[in-house]
Amino acid sequence: MPLQLPELPYPENALAPHVSAETLELHHGKHHAKYVQTLNELVSGTKHAKQSLEEIVHSADPGPLFNNAGQHWNHSFYWQCLSPDGGADPTGTLRKEIEKSFGSVDDFRTKFAEAATEVFGSGWAWLVKDGSGKLLVIRTANAENPLIHKGQKALLTCDVWEHAYYVDHRNEREKYLDAFWNVVNWDFAASQL
Ligand code: FE2
Repeated sequence: MPLQLPELPYPENALAPHVSAETLELHHGKHHAKYVQTLNELVSGTKHAKQSLEEIVHSADPGPLFNNAGQHWNHSFYWQCLSPDGGADPTGTLRKEIEKSFGSVDDFRTKFAEAATEVFGSGWAWLVKDGSGKLLVIRTANAENPLIHKGQKALLTCDVWEHAYYVDHRNEREKYLDAFWNVVNWDFAASQL
């Protein structure tokens, strides 16, 4: 069974005006779809063909196989980090954990946005839980993700490849981050705790 492009958890126009339908159509329908197609071509006839996506990410050598597997995993995770019902502030346990690790929700947002804008070139900003249960903000380059960081579990991500924001915000990654907070899916992040 080849690896599949997951359906978006909402219609393409559901996140507008924060993330446009045109961006989602290209980002999901073209970029993510291409990673899945290339990944299936790369694993075909190899020992990776029977592995789950997570197993491929863990066992792939650096290079095209890891890059396409990582990008498939990252995007599948990212779509769930957005929601038309998102935005505002986290609540409950997630809020308490964020306050414990960063001081306040606003301090977390500042730190996450800094990480996102500091990624040089293409990559991702993440909220992760480390092995001791503490929450951290990290950034990764290209297709890298917390799956390959021992002890880290991803809670939330923001894709800062240019293809995520160039249609809506041209070169202004900061404006994309502002838009991201309007649709951020705290419920999904809380479910990953
Ligand atoms: Fe992307």
